[in-house]
Amino acid sequence: MIRKLTLSAAAALALAAGGASAAEEGHVEDFSFSFEGPFGTYDQLQLQRGLKVYTMVCSSCHGLRYVPIRTLGSESGPGLPEDQVRAYADQYVEVYDPELEEWRAAKPTDNFPAVESAGAPDLSLMAKGRAGFHGPYGLGLNQLFKGMGGPEYIASILTGYTGEEQQQAGTILYENTAFPGGWISMAPPLYGDDVDYEDGTEATIEQEAKDVAAFLMWAAEPKMMERRHAGFAGVIFLIVLTSLLYLTNKSLWAPIKKKAKETPAE
Ligand code: HEC
Repeated sequence: MIRKLTLSAAAALALAAGGASAAEEGHVEDFSFSFEGPFGTYDQLQLQRGLKVYTMVCSSCHGLRYVPIRTLGSESGPGLPEDQVRAYADQYVEVYDPELEEWRAAKPTDNFPAVESAGAPDLSLMAKGRAGFHGPYGLGLNQLFKGMGGPEYIASILTGYTGEEQQQAGTILYENTAFPGGWISMAPPLYGDDVDYEDGTEATIEQEAKDVAAFLMWAAEPKMMERRHAGFAGVIFLIVLTSLLYLTNKSLWAPIKKKAKETPAE
């Protein structure tokens, strides 16, 4: 039985390794983010900068169809004041209204629109969708041990262009060290200084890439902090419960054990 199990485990490993090399996994850089680790939290200013990069650069091709605009006001998110959320919806986002049958300025209660024209994937869940399977044998070990996942992948894509391009069946492909296969059809979106950061941060390519990756992580997982807190509360509760049960068990059995000691078995 054990031998069978070992054999099938070895076979699974070999398959996983084969799969990973067949897909030509790209190189994902281990960027550090404020929300990594069990006590990490989102950096509100970074989320605001990332929102700006998304709005000014990415939103022309990529939608965020599952993200309600009002959540930009969330305290654990970008934390924009209410009037700024309203102004943001009004100035930057246009949604299609099926009742009016036309485009109109968005309201905070609308979601960000879906953008389909550019053939670019929706980014709402991208930071979670691309989270796993990096690291040795594509087993996701980097995510477990280094906290590397979707945001690192996104930032690596944005900073991974080599400048080489080639044309294939009428499409231009750009060489990218992080993209599986090495060639992506997204033109390099960032050149540095693409946005003006109000907080004085220098808008280098790497800074913008990390900021928008952090913003997209928040978009995909807005309740990460709450979830972690609930997890900690759960663990503490289980520790207390276990200790109480252990003590109860001991005290219940104490008289019986005592008796057993006093009357040794024949
Ligand atoms: C000019 C249009 C355009 C702009 C601007 C643009 N993208 Fe893309 N993006 C694309 C297209 C097209 C693809 C699909 C590429 C492919 O699959 O080869 C893509 C793919 C992606 C992917 C997915 C890679 C994967 O694993 O499938 C990510 C992540 C991404 N873009 C992030 C961004 C971010 C962040 C920005 C803003 C900084 C941005 N993009 C700006 C067109 C664009």
